[in-house]
Amino acid sequence: MAFPTHPLPADTIMARLAELRAHDVPWREGRLLAGIYDPGAETRTTIQAAYSAFLSENALYPNFFPSLLRIERDVVAAMAELLRGDGAVGNCTSGGTESILLAVKAARDHARATRPELTAPEIILPQTAHAAFHKACHYLGVRPVVTPIEPTSFRADLPAMAAAITPQTIMLVASAPCYSHGVIDPIPAIAALARERGLLCHVDACVGGIQLSVMRRMGYSLPDFDFSVPGVTSISVDLHKYGYAAKNCSAILYHTPDLRRHALFCSSATTGYAVINPTVLSTRSGGPLAGAWAAIHAIGETGYQQIVRETMACTAELIAAVRSVEGLRVLGAPEMCMFAFAAEDLNIFELDDAMARRGWLLQPQLSKGASPANLHVSVHQGTVGHADAFTTALRESVAEVRAGPGVGDVAALQAEVLELMARPGPETFARVAALAGLTPGQMPTGFARINTVLNLLPEAVVDALLVEYLNSIY
Ligand SMILES: Cc1ncc(COP(=O)(O)O)c(C=O)c1O
Repeated sequence: MAFPTHPLPADTIMARLAELRAHDVPWREGRLLAGIYDPGAETRTTIQAAYSAFLSENALYPNFFPSLLRIERDVVAAMAELLRGDGAVGNCTSGGTESILLAVKAARDHARATRPELTAPEIILPQTAHAAFHKACHYLGVRPVVTPIEPTSFRADLPAMAAAITPQTIMLVASAPCYSHGVIDPIPAIAALARERGLLCHVDACVGGIQLSVMRRMGYSLPDFDFSVPGVTSISVDLHKYGYAAKNCSAILYHTPDLRRHALFCSSATTGYAVINPTVLSTRSGGPLAGAWAAIHAIGETGYQQIVRETMACTAELIAAVRSVEGLRVLGAPEMCMFAFAAEDLNIFELDDAMARRGWLLQPQLSKGASPANLHVSVHQGTVGHADAFTTALRESVAEVRAGPGVGDVAALQAEVLELMARPGPETFARVAALAGLTPGQMPTGFARINTVLNLLPEAVVDALLVEYLNSIY
């Protein structure tokens, strides 16, 4: 597109945007099972109105916009109450990744201040910890030390974490739950270990913090995962996931202002205004803040309880559907409304494409350590009422995959991959991409072959290949 010359009327702009949107996934139908958390049309409309009303206000300037300071304090206080953070402080961020980035920065700079002998700080991450921690380490010069997970529960392996602690360790990480499998790590034991060894402990409750807290208050039997656990020093919790707020809103909570101090950034080094930032972003739209404030008010605890009842019942139905198909297996014992399942005797990535052809969009996850290749499902309010349709689509898809040629012989593909990897050269990436059916600059129409090939490659090659591809599509 060339830079537009003349102004266009509003209705033309909206019509053109609608045309562009026509090719998007119809997420309002409840069959997109990742990345969407839809509270339904009525609440969505309220949230959108609040969001739009504050879209132009800038949270960088709490002096100009005391409304946003108040809104942010309110949202953080509500999260701290849910997560039993008496005395906890925090801020709203653009999402889980930013909250995690701040937790890692706080840990790194806390270590710099209190343990000056450290030269190369490390954080310990169970293999199920979200990639946002790896990104934070990458950005902040911290070394991620990955520990295996327990092979049947898919929870963090405590002895492995204990064994990975070195004099450079600054923080242990646990998830409530991890996104991939929806299981909660043994947080009381991990936090106790951190405390005993004088380390920080971050709980990633990005996806679960709100739903699990509401479940706890409803009387569900759940392990403790929040600030009530001695040793937990920071928690990330996303409003824009199971808080059903509009994107982008998460909260990062620190157990004390002393720890938060190390996440903050202020600079009066330039000729410009003094920059005073509690988060990574400097200019911050008030939209996400007002949207989150509106979401928690529009839904309220009783509304969240209703959502919990319905999404948990729906999840049970979807899990039963998976278990009713011979050869499919739910991984671990998911505690919330998200789970992953693997297949014994068919290519799970072909099943993903077959489900997509029926309008059901799941999330493929490559094999990693003890976790086989699988499909992830996040159930949200919009999924409720569609369990029978999911069951039918799943059974038809399994039958189709079993009957069809699919991506062909995986062993033969593996042999080709191995041969390519054995003779690395300047063309290797292009040839692996071609083998996978990944065309630079183009969005694929099916993903089975791509994921099958990616699943055969070493992690570093997958990452490098994806960087090349990403570099081609924008
Ligand atoms: C457990 C967990 N942590 C962190 C993140 C990253 O959140 P975001 O995509 O909002 O940056 C996610 C996203 O799915 C998540 O599930």
